[in-house]
Amino acid sequence: MKNLSILHVDSEKLLPETMKMWAELYCEIWKEPPWNEDFWKPREVKGEFRKELSRPHGEAFLALENQKVVGFTHGYSVSCQEMREVAGNGLLNKLFKHTNRVYYIDELGVAKEYRGRHISIDLTNSLIQAVKCHGITCITLRTDMQAMAARNLYQKLGFKELKVCDAKYPNRTYWVCQTNEVYDYLR
Ligand SMILES: CC(C)(COP(=O)(O)OP(=O)(O)OC[C@H]1O[C@@H](n2cnc3c(N)ncnc32)[C@H](O)[C@@H]1OP(=O)(O)O)[C@@H](O)C(=O)NCCC(=O)NCCS
Repeated sequence: MKNLSILHVDSEKLLPETMKMWAELYCEIWKEPPWNEDFWKPREVKGEFRKELSRPHGEAFLALENQKVVGFTHGYSVSCQEMREVAGNGLLNKLFKHTNRVYYIDELGVAKEYRGRHISIDLTNSLIQAVKCHGITCITLRTDMQAMAARNLYQKLGFKELKVCDAKYPNRTYWVCQTNEVYDYLR
């Protein structure tokens, strides 16, 4: 049984200790392969979180177990031009055929010792509900072709892989789903 809660982050009210745990977990998780990003520093990461939350439709959810941060997801909405800047190319322009803004899920991570308990499903479902409340119908994200757990997870939720690689990270492909096509997996 899970003894877990999902916190919808309000940047005005978030306790400094919770922000610190979130930043530390973030730095730990991205050191893992295939990411191998050992350059993140908690102090700088906290600034990035604040920036991200202040973007249009910026949202973050944390998984907490007894006040300890054990997972996170966050994202924001982008215009066509902003999406080009994220991807480094215009190959995702077609997502904007029927809409001005698309939601971009920027981050998702669960602490190693808490994996396999469907925490990422709970986090992602919470973020998708928030996206729906904003009236945004299309969600995109990118993940590494070797990140099997993430690939399986997003596939289970109804995301489809696009034949579009990121310009800066060619091993990362883009995925997309329409919010009305997300599977209510485990609900
Ligand atoms: C990807 C990640 C967030 C998954 O978190 P999690 O809470 O352990 O995943 P869940 O328990 O919610 O699993 C959901 C589904 O994902 C898939 N999955 C999860 N772990 C998996 C693994 N080790 N291997 C293959 N598939 C896996 C399964 O399809 C699973 O559904 P199932 O258990 O019904 O078969 C976690 O492994 C992680 O933080 N990895 C490092 C960071 C990362 O890759 N983030 C994603 C960047 S886009």
